[in-house]
Amino acid sequence: MCGIVGYIGAKNCIPILVGGLRRLEYRGYDSAGIGVLSQGKALVVKSVGKVSVLQDKLDKLSISSSIGIGHTRWATHGVPNETNAHPHVNEKNSLMLIHNGIIENYAALKETLKLAGYVFKSDTDTEVLAHLIDSFLNKGLTLFNSVRAALNEVEGTYGIAVIFENEPDKIVVAKKGSPLVIGIGDNENYIASDVSALVAHTQQVVYLEDGEVVEVYKDKFIAKDVSDKEIVKKVQEITLKLDEISKGGFQHFMLKEIMEQSESICNSMRGRLVPTEGTSKLGGIEEYADRLAQSKRIIISACGTSYHAGLVGEYMFEQFAEIPTEVEYASEFRYRNPIIYPEDTVIFISQSGETADTLAALKESKRRGALCIGICNVVGSSIARESHAGVYIHAGPEIGVASTKAFTSQLIVLSLITLLIARKKRMSLIDGQNVVSEIEHLPEKIESILRLNDGIEKIAEDFKDAKNFLYLGRGYNFPVALEGALKLKEISYIHAEGYPAAEMKHGPIALVDKMMPVVFIAPRDSTYEKILSNIQEVKARHGRIIAIASESDDKINDLVDYTIKVPDTIRMLMPILTVIPLQLLAYHIAVKKGLNVDQPRNLAKSVTVE
Ligand code: F6R
Repeated sequence: MCGIVGYIGAKNCIPILVGGLRRLEYRGYDSAGIGVLSQGKALVVKSVGKVSVLQDKLDKLSISSSIGIGHTRWATHGVPNETNAHPHVNEKNSLMLIHNGIIENYAALKETLKLAGYVFKSDTDTEVLAHLIDSFLNKGLTLFNSVRAALNEVEGTYGIAVIFENEPDKIVVAKKGSPLVIGIGDNENYIASDVSALVAHTQQVVYLEDGEVVEVYKDKFIAKDVSDKEIVKKVQEITLKLDEISKGGFQHFMLKEIMEQSESICNSMRGRLVPTEGTSKLGGIEEYADRLAQSKRIIISACGTSYHAGLVGEYMFEQFAEIPTEVEYASEFRYRNPIIYPEDTVIFISQSGETADTLAALKESKRRGALCIGICNVVGSSIARESHAGVYIHAGPEIGVASTKAFTSQLIVLSLITLLIARKKRMSLIDGQNVVSEIEHLPEKIESILRLNDGIEKIAEDFKDAKNFLYLGRGYNFPVALEGALKLKEISYIHAEGYPAAEMKHGPIALVDKMMPVVFIAPRDSTYEKILSNIQEVKARHGRIIAIASESDDKINDLVDYTIKVPDTIRMLMPILTVIPLQLLAYHIAVKKGLNVDQPRNLAKSVTVE
């Protein structure tokens, strides 16, 4: 989704801004722009499409400046074009502003500003902010006070950065509901919506909290909270390294991230298993472990792939932790006036830790007194900071828009939480030790699945022209069917649906003919025989079948057109293995269709608007 970068110091900011915008490309965007002070005057350059187009424009202009802001825009209000791209300016062209988020009352503010004589050029909600700030500057307020006064009138979410010609020594930034971080350098400072835009320059960062407005100078920054009180902000060290956010020789980030799953799940479990006691140790929730185990109910709230991980978590918690569990789309949960009791635990799963709906659901649950636990990947993210307690999945930066390694790491963390609760309840030491041992063996099993990559690529060749796909699974593997379908549709734009296999006969079977590929997730478990019956039903209607099956299964080959075998493990961990061939299948189909797998159309990595 939209990205923000900024620089103030002694260097030429143009390459820094463009480099930062490139690092933010993975978030998804459709236009880009920068605003700098060039010889004391505000200068804005914008383009539609990729950052490389902006770069070409800038190369021709050969501008140099030591203060500037840059933005990638993912259209919400108004089509992607240069006029709607950021920065937006005031009428005198002396103020430049970039904005992530949505100004909800922009229409009313726009009407008032129009009555006051302001003329609007774009269709965006952001331009309202530029004129609103200008209206306070005209009353003689400083930039800082004008920004604050303007934000007092705004409803919605924002991360903003503003530069004003008359106060050329500072960038004013503010945050509410949209992440913003300051990077501290030596006699220079940076701003960004995401630390990945900063790692090339500094490891020292300051995360802004909602309601804070900050003046960033080259050698200091002054932060104030909503009540105009100056606040002392903590400088934190980020551990992210530059090579972690590069492709490392792979053609795409998505492939790199699929291929590193044996390692990323190791990082998720490192130091957290206690084999002698057949349990897990999770420092982030230790203090709340008993309360969690005594919860009357667990609610898991998330979006997209993280929601699918939550569905697997539901099976785990109900089977082993013996706690009734519900899984809710965060977007529905937050507006449904949910009944939440103080004895409930609500778990929020989010790779980015910034998803607007999940964050809002978290705030609502906190307000209603439930214990709120976050399962996030991005350290220091909003959901991680807002939760009472949490467990990082430590999957490492996920840059490909389609989530892959975060999903398997989320499942590892859910299995560790399950183990922790189950061992406090009725799971025996032997059973706990068995789960620990199965978790420990997952990395080598994943390695063996990844070695099937070439074979899966061949299967992809046969299916790249399909128009529809069905994914069917039961029990723990029903959420995997949903996830496999989501992966395919988001990067290959092929329509795909995931279903519980038994539901097929209640509708989707009408779709099955020789043109319909059906992917069955059919490992040998308690529902295996029933899945075989479903396979027969599809076969009888000439559907083309791909089965994800257990290594030990030699019966299934004769029934289906293609088989991808995965090693066996206990049921609760099977999704961590069965999902990987589906990630690879989606990846190869999209590559064969010539599509941009890392930045699929219309999608954003971090969905910071509703
Ligand atoms: C799918 C995908 C999205 C995200 C969803 C939630 O591949 O990446 O569906 O899973 O937008 O994002 P997070 O986990 O960051 O809250």
